[in-house]
Amino acid sequence: MAKVALITGGMGGIGTAICKQLADAGFSVVTTYSKPGREVQWLADAKEAGYTFRAYQCDVTDYDACVALAAQITADVGPVDVLVNNAGITRDASFKKLDKVNWDAVIKTNLDSIFNVTKQFVDGMADRGWGRVINISSINGQKGQFGQTNYSAAKAGMHGFTMALAQEVAKKGVTVNTISPGYIATDMVMAVPEDVRNKIISGIPVSRLGKPEEIAALITYLSSDLAGFMTGANLAINGGQHMH
Ligand code: CAA
Repeated sequence: MAKVALITGGMGGIGTAICKQLADAGFSVVTTYSKPGREVQWLADAKEAGYTFRAYQCDVTDYDACVALAAQITADVGPVDVLVNNAGITRDASFKKLDKVNWDAVIKTNLDSIFNVTKQFVDGMADRGWGRVINISSINGQKGQFGQTNYSAAKAGMHGFTMALAQEVAKKGVTVNTISPGYIATDMVMAVPEDVRNKIISGIPVSRLGKPEEIAALITYLSSDLAGFMTGANLAINGGQHMH
């Protein structure tokens, strides 16, 4: 039977590429989305491209909703073997202008969510002796970014979670890793004002935005059997914008 991969927030630019590549690699792919109605066009487009995905509406900031999500996925397709914590938002503002609403929104969506979702699946992976947890962080969790105290804090926090959980489940055949993409050509990056974005691109040695497929390829590798010796890592994939 095909292994099951769950990608949270799988309908964005990076998420969609992950769903397709994991399906190509033989996984049964399920995803979550937050806004009801969004799934209709996305599932139709996927179908047209030859992919059959399952999509579940779930607010990943809501612990009880994540409990219900896990029960539903398990009933529909079986236990989850690969979890990609990909759901995330930005609410950019300099700290001077940042209000509590936008601090809380980013911390809840980008950081609290990885507790809420991972909690539902990691024990099952450990019991079965195989699993993959992949947390999608950001270059800005590694280097900080003007206007992103909320986002940088949440994204840096994700890797702390990765390193701690990786140690707890390593003996059980479960790996936990962080991927830190740089600026990728997605709606999230295109929402950055054009002049600011162009300045950022001029600071990327590869001289362009990354492609979602370039991120998805790394996730496909981490999801494979051959990646069993890689755990607790933070993999930078940013066109050379930040090296450390
Ligand atoms: N470094 C230093 N100073 C900066 C600066 C920077 N990077 N950006 C702005 N400033 C300065 C301005 O020059 C201005 O200075 P003066 O007051 O002396 O003229 C001052 O800061 C303006 O501050 P404001 O708070 O008024 O800024 P603003 O409201 O105009 O907008 C911003 C600030 C929202 C942060 C805007 O610059 C912005 O959107 N920046 C991009 C942030 C970013 O990179 N976000 C990434 C989104 S994509 C993503 O997150 C995906 C991923 O993982 C990579």
